[in-house]
Amino acid sequence: MRRPPAATNVRSVLSALPRNSVRVQAPGKINLLLRVGAPGADGFHPLATVFQAVSLYEDLIAIPAPDFAVRFGGSVDVSGLSTDDSNLAVRAARALAAHSRVPNGVHMQIEKHVPIAGGMGGGSADAAAALVACNELWGTELDRHHLHELAASLGSDVPFSLTGGTAIGLGRGDDVSQVLTTGRLHWVLVTAEHGLSTPAVYRELDRMREAGEAPPAPDVVSVDVALLHALRSGDAAALAPTLHNDLQAAAISLAPALGEVLEQGMDAGALAGIVSGSGPTLAFLVPGTDAAHEVRVSLAVAGHQTHKVHGPVHGARVVDNEHS
Ligand code: C5P
Repeated sequence: MRRPPAATNVRSVLSALPRNSVRVQAPGKINLLLRVGAPGADGFHPLATVFQAVSLYEDLIAIPAPDFAVRFGGSVDVSGLSTDDSNLAVRAARALAAHSRVPNGVHMQIEKHVPIAGGMGGGSADAAAALVACNELWGTELDRHHLHELAASLGSDVPFSLTGGTAIGLGRGDDVSQVLTTGRLHWVLVTAEHGLSTPAVYRELDRMREAGEAPPAPDVVSVDVALLHALRSGDAAALAPTLHNDLQAAAISLAPALGEVLEQGMDAGALAGIVSGSGPTLAFLVPGTDAAHEVRVSLAVAGHQTHKVHGPVHGARVVDNEHS
């Protein structure tokens, strides 16, 4: 019989925790806007994006240890994740230890709920959670600015996982500034069984642009004012037509079924549907919780895995501290 993924209940883990442990939650994100320029000499694409942190969280418990280790459980299949030194959470912990010149190690248990390779920044959330947890556990007291610098060295989306909320991301997406928003937006997410590789989706966009299958890269990428206005007024209906993702055509080219699911969500009453980041997670904007329920039911009947979430929510933060 196939062993189920090492799903562990956070509460049962917590009840067995030593006193000096730290628990951190970090959210997944969706991109309300993602404009992608032509790749630079470093291979990275200049971005103008608007992130929103949504209420689907990674839950990390950190325990002091002489060495570095990570284990995964949670509601997504974690069997394919690496737990060696290449893991982003381990790299984050090691980076903080090296930066702060502390001899400490850490053992981390991460309950994953953000889809893996789904375009929702789950790995980035793990790294942000590891930074916040170790900073607390080791008493290294790095301020937000220095944590942000370490975060950016780990991946383009890690700084936003620290900040949360709703934010513009420029550069590689790591130059983050908060955006003024009103109220709460409601989303239905459709997650896919198989992930998409972020570099492969960027490469596909470059190919499509080269072949004339997608509009050419803009000379300058920028954030649309109409979208910022809609966020400020908290008007979901006004926001809907401003949502846009340059990577969407590339993600659909690699996973054509996404196009059909987008249509199904719109037919079910969503205000808008969009690929999140490099996909394949889809985010449907809905006017409220009743509409969210209706869209969810329609998509679930069609055989899709759905989640109802809201945003914006906080970035990576300590939720339990047994550190004495
Ligand atoms: O920074 P991160 O590790 O998340 O990026 C993963 C990959 O996505 C990069 O190696 C690159 O291929 C692609 N990428 C890009 N331009 C960006 C961000 C990511 O081309 N701004």
